Amino acid sequence: MENLHDKRKIYEKSQLIESEIKENPLEQFRDWFLDASSNPTVSEANAMAVSTLEDDGCPRTRMVLLKEYTYEGFIFYTNYDSRKGKAIAKTHKACLHFFWPGLERQIIIKADLEKIAENLSDGYFHSRPKGSQLGAAVSPQSEVIPDRAYLEVKLKELEEKFENIEVPKPENWGGYIAKPYEIEFWQGRPNRLHDRIIYTLKGMDWEISRLAP
Ligand SMILES: Cc1cc2nc3c(=O)[nH]c(=O)nc-3n(C[C@H](O)[C@H](O)[C@H](O)COP(=O)(O)O)c2cc1C
Repeated sequence: MENLHDKRKIYEKSQLIESEIKENPLEQFRDWFLDASSNPTVSEANAMAVSTLEDDGCPRTRMVLLKEYTYEGFIFYTNYDSRKGKAIAKTHKACLHFFWPGLERQIIIKADLEKIAENLSDGYFHSRPKGSQLGAAVSPQSEVIPDRAYLEVKLKELEEKFENIEVPKPENWGGYIAKPYEIEFWQGRPNRLHDRIIYTLKGMDWEISRLAP
């Protein structure tokens, strides 16, 4: 098909060294996230890959949008009955992954997941444009459906039904908070000697180590 042996890049934009990092990884995340958000090469800094473990032992990854981060964790919204929702219900864990090529940075986060409070999901749901609210109500996310028309017909029905009234948040739609217990920051460096700093939660404290690239 195609040989990609010679396709490689030199990473040289920045560095990640112990004397310059934050003690708290959520603060380090904020620094990097702000860099990514203001970097013209990054079109959706808050797009992240979320991996969950499936019954066959294989992780499955898909993109979702990070909607909030605090000292407690990372919040995203989805359908609780989706494939990811079912996996999370079993393991209560996920791995979040950010890669911002223009900054030569990736972040890998292992976390315990919990549903956020219903009123918070409700608040966010109603802050979204009506089209997105209806889209969430229409779609049985991750289920097999007969065809595209199935969604379009359902959307039309709901558009009429809720023309002048508020769309109720579907019961199976809401947020998760991913509470991290391990966060790795990776900064590309020349000669493949990349910087890898990993924060591991030990009780209430974050232990900081450097990993070989
Ligand atoms: C950039 C991007 C952002 C996305 N954001 C979300 C999101 O915030 N929530 C969501 O449920 N799906 C989002 N999706 C769709 C998911 O990738 C996925 O198709 C969907 O959640 C169903 O996943 P599942 O069947 O593995 O549960 C996004 C997709 C892309 C490419």
